[in-house]
Amino acid sequence: MTELLSATPEGIARAAALLREGKLVAFGTETVYGLGADATKGDAVAAIFAAKQRPRFNPLISHFPDADSAFAHVAATQAARLLAEEFWPGPLTLVLPRLPATPIHDLTGAGLPTLAIRVPASETARALLRSAGLPIAAPSANRSGQVSPTSAQHVLSELDGRIEAILDSGPCAVGLESTILDLSGPRPVLLRPGGISREALEEILGPIARAESDDHAPRAPGMLRSHYAPRLPVRLSATSIAPTEALLAFGPPLTGGCTTFSLSASGDLTEAATRLFAGLRALDATPGASAIAVMPIPHHGLGLALNDRLERAAAPRG
Ligand code: TXA
Ligand code: MG
Repeated sequence: MTELLSATPEGIARAAALLREGKLVAFGTETVYGLGADATKGDAVAAIFAAKQRPRFNPLISHFPDADSAFAHVAATQAARLLAEEFWPGPLTLVLPRLPATPIHDLTGAGLPTLAIRVPASETARALLRSAGLPIAAPSANRSGQVSPTSAQHVLSELDGRIEAILDSGPCAVGLESTILDLSGPRPVLLRPGGISREALEEILGPIARAESDDHAPRAPGMLRSHYAPRLPVRLSATSIAPTEALLAFGPPLTGGCTTFSLSASGDLTEAATRLFAGLRALDATPGASAIAVMPIPHHGLGLALNDRLERAAAPRG
């Protein structure tokens, strides 16, 4: 059963305590309801993907109570600070290079070198974030493929029994997701139109490019096939291993490769999800390895997202 919490000091404190325990808590923001979890805990973030039944590890937005706590995790530019002063708290998400020292888990950022950060306008949401004292990863609180929820009832109808609690702060004021602006490259790029208009951003930044689907512009990561490809070729569904291959193991490892990184010795998909990006990076850095061989991963639950990401890593490079 999912607990329905009201937006009182007690309800907020309870929601914050659950988040600190690594549980999933949906909460209202001014845009839509988010499905929150501790962004620094890989298994909490993996649970978001499992609850949403998302067949893919999209990067998630990390939420903060104020600009200072948000900018502690990224390399903030002058433009980012100007926009934060003008539009935060509010429906604007900024994508910036992640700092090497951030405790935010690489599953939250789907292994990308950037992080999406946002300070929501909702008072209740910020009280929750302040009380939790953690970066909170939160995609919209709907099942994959459904529309974003703008009330606690919407969330309950899709996720009842799949998440620990919902903090009910009433209907969302904006009802449309945040605008996502990528400031990690040489020019600002609008990745998703939303609650803050492009014109409002252009008043501060000048002309902003729209994400294109060519290989030179940054864009919504879901559209990329081999964006996360390691340097080494990737061979999937390996049931044997060559001496020069680096093994990404699932379950009892094959023997004979030049090195092994175990996603989960016991065959646990949640554990594997938390170790995927670290594993690809570690094996990719193996001196002398000819390829990364990946053992078969069952195609159910989080296995769908794991296989999706591995297929991208193995896709031909263009
Ligand atoms: O209004 C909102 O933004 C809501 C509330 C809950 O804050 N959240 C939301 O999250 O809409 P979600 O996961 O449904 O959409 C987040 C989008 C995804 O399309 C994802 O690809 C993009 O943000 N995103 C996240 N991190 C990114 C990154 N490092 N680079 C580029 N895009 C990123
Ligand atoms: Mg969404």
